[in-house]
Amino acid sequence: MNKINAELLKKLLMTFGPSGNEEKIRKVIKEEIQEFADEIKVDALGNLIAIKKGKGKRIMVASHMDEIGIMVTNVDDDGFLRFTNIGGVSPFMSLGQKVIFDDETIGVIGMEKLDDIKDLKLNKMFIDVGLPSKEEVIKKINVGDVASFYSPFIYQNECIISKTLDDRIGCFVAIEALKKLKDTPNEIYFVFTVQEEVGLRGAKTAAYGINPDLGIAIDVTLTGDTPKAEVMDVGLGKGAAIKVKDRSIIVSPKVKDLITEVAVDNEIPFQYEILDAGGTDSGAIHLSRSGIPSGVISIPCRYVHSPSEMVYISDVINSIKLLIKVLEKEKINI
Ligand code: CO
Ligand code: ZN
Repeated sequence: MNKINAELLKKLLMTFGPSGNEEKIRKVIKEEIQEFADEIKVDALGNLIAIKKGKGKRIMVASHMDEIGIMVTNVDDDGFLRFTNIGGVSPFMSLGQKVIFDDETIGVIGMEKLDDIKDLKLNKMFIDVGLPSKEEVIKKINVGDVASFYSPFIYQNECIISKTLDDRIGCFVAIEALKKLKDTPNEIYFVFTVQEEVGLRGAKTAAYGINPDLGIAIDVTLTGDTPKAEVMDVGLGKGAAIKVKDRSIIVSPKVKDLITEVAVDNEIPFQYEILDAGGTDSGAIHLSRSGIPSGVISIPCRYVHSPSEMVYISDVINSIKLLIKVLEKEKINI
């Protein structure tokens, strides 16, 4: 059986951090990595940057620590909250789910009576925190407050089922790589970025500040391995995914080949990823300054942006191995 540090992963997954509100998760990650980095800093937008000194290439590893969520826009007289999305929140995925606020208040998402369920939109939905009036609600929750989805951490068979695997599983991969990394020939900047889910915002400023020679994002990707799924050549259990293209980037063939070569040389199972929807931090990194060669190691994940995202442990372990071997590589030509 594959083994991972499930206690750390659970802590990462359960810590509050909708985009723009990453204080708590930043603190958790900072405490976890402190003793393994040569230097740690937080930039003006809130990105957490851990540096591992070295003489070779400057490599930025980006995994985003924010998560999708909701923001309260109105509280009505009966105490029902209206809300808007933070990042890609589907009304269908949200219906009947629970959300959790910063103060740990839990709310249930309900909907108005609809004649046709196809008309379901977030503005037809509300959050019920079980209090009878506006007066009672606003003692705890107010307009502008944010919440993330609430669901348990499940470690079953060889997989993890949870909320926020996007992208705390990427943070987990980066943390485990940082911990295991011995002296490296390269200078590594592990960046736990903010506000990816609302448009790759943290990675943009972090990349400008660091000015790396190479950028590598670690994030989840979709799969094509469920019944009648849209055709996609990525599946759970088939290894770390090496991105070729998504909406935000066409990975430079040199970077794709570099990561592939490392996977082949070290016999790490991998698959190529072409994602039709969505992007990730490398999209912002590669357009920084006068251009920064960038790639992505992706962890295949089913049901992304739902409260029940699923990854296989074996893919997580292979992603950690692949990242370490790339970072340890001497003489990187890009
Ligand atoms: Co996402
Ligand atoms: Zn993501």
